[in-house]
Amino acid sequence: MVSEKMQDALNGQMNAELYSAYLYLAMAAYYEDSDLPGFANWMRVQAQEEMTHAMKFYDYLVQRGARVALDTIEKPPFDWESPLDVSERVLEHEKKVTGLINNLVNLAMDEKDHATNNFLQWYVAEQVEEEESVGAVLQKVRLAGNSSSGLLMVDAELANRVFNPPAAQK
Ligand code: FEO
Repeated sequence: MVSEKMQDALNGQMNAELYSAYLYLAMAAYYEDSDLPGFANWMRVQAQEEMTHAMKFYDYLVQRGARVALDTIEKPPFDWESPLDVSERVLEHEKKVTGLINNLVNLAMDEKDHATNNFLQWYVAEQVEEEESVGAVLQKVRLAGNSSSGLLMVDAELANRVFNPPAAQK
């Protein structure tokens, strides 16, 4: 069993992961509208990954005999200034999520909930990868600057990103 406080916190993080998927789908729509299908593909893949993050919380709650509680998902923004703006917001968002995961780990440690702490370590590692991956894209967008051809090169590269189903994930 997990404590009621931990159950609520895990449900809260599940909601945050669902919001991440929602946010990235909104960003994908912005890129579709901006005729940058590679960037849109990247955001779609990110959204799918966020769904698996949410489902891992869902499944863990079930596994521990806790109650899954779905909540309202916050409305994401509709528009952004530029691809650079979106990329900066993605990194900002991932850093925020890292903070949320760290808070969950702190709670698990406070409660001496070793099983949940162990479960959360997957997310700790995942956030390191997410920040690195998003940071690398942001750097490329920054280098492209106002060059359309530079941006189209990044777009072509991001068109190759594919979603790795959970079984194939590290
Ligand atoms: Fe689920 Fe991108 O953090």
